[in-house]
Amino acid sequence: MALWGGRFEAGVAEVTQEFGASLPVDKHLYKQDIAGSKAHAKMLAAQGIISAEDEQAIAEGLTGIEQDIDAGNFTFDINDEDIHMSIESELTRRIGEAGKRLHTGRSRNDQVATDTRLGVKALARELMEANLELRHVLVDAAKKYDKVILPGYTHMQHAQPVLLSHHLLAYSWMFARDFTRLKAAFDAADNCPLGAAALAGTSYPLDRQMTAAELGFAGVIPNSLDAVSDRDFLLDLHYAGSVMAMHLSRLSEEIVLWSSSEFGFITLSDSYSTGSSIMPQKKNPDFAELIRGKSGRVYGNLVQLLVTMKGLPLAYNKDLQEDKEGALDTA
Ligand code: ARG
Repeated sequence: MALWGGRFEAGVAEVTQEFGASLPVDKHLYKQDIAGSKAHAKMLAAQGIISAEDEQAIAEGLTGIEQDIDAGNFTFDINDEDIHMSIESELTRRIGEAGKRLHTGRSRNDQVATDTRLGVKALARELMEANLELRHVLVDAAKKYDKVILPGYTHMQHAQPVLLSHHLLAYSWMFARDFTRLKAAFDAADNCPLGAAALAGTSYPLDRQMTAAELGFAGVIPNSLDAVSDRDFLLDLHYAGSVMAMHLSRLSEEIVLWSSSEFGFITLSDSYSTGSSIMPQKKNPDFAELIRGKSGRVYGNLVQLLVTMKGLPLAYNKDLQEDKEGALDTA
């Protein structure tokens, strides 16, 4: 029986269960889910809402589950619907009644918002690191080719001579602005929804500041309805990703042009090119074309989430479950 099955007499049809499940996507958030649950249990114990023994059993049980998932020894069951129910039902199998008390003063609505925010913070951080690395590569290339002159273009017509280094550094400035946008997405995600429960908070005396601090959030979200229904932080990640994908696409377009026989400005290294069996003269810039091509998918993900959000009344609606796949894809 599902965790919410208490009021139902007939079982749920298999197709309803399968259609409603988000496990294939949100199982990637298991580390965030476990960290959130540990912080919540620690706070419940500190507030005297559950016993210290319960908290210890919960923490140990969750560590065991995390190790099993890490090692690939955990069987996910689609009947559990999502990562929250998978972990909670397994915890209850392992430690008994204390496992059920973990969810005191919490709902999957504030839980999933917390997991997603932690996930976005991790993704934004990874993207910022990759962005820095890319800018280092561009600056190094600019230094290496600081005597190379090429035609600068306007209207795709020869305009004035420019240095290749100047051209490459133009891209590094674009990516520097992308870094700022990624940081903004990180900051937008950096507040904790826990305590909002389903939508209207809870009468349990929770310490919201404590869970937020345990999880490394900068603060708590003041309004409970906003806490469970806000996905702006995901949109910010999508927008940062879209602009960065656009910059990457422009750079890729120049690599495609410059490596053509018409331009002949650059020769691609063999290790980054592909060939043709029937046209042996060819050296195709597949990787640049693919980067240019993937930008379309990234913009699509941004538009998908905007459209998903635009008609949603407050607070949680199941539509929100469609929020994670595109963000992972974009990142
Ligand atoms: N799997 C759900 C999601 O990703 C979790 C929240 C479910 N809450 C609910 N009231 N059905 O959005």
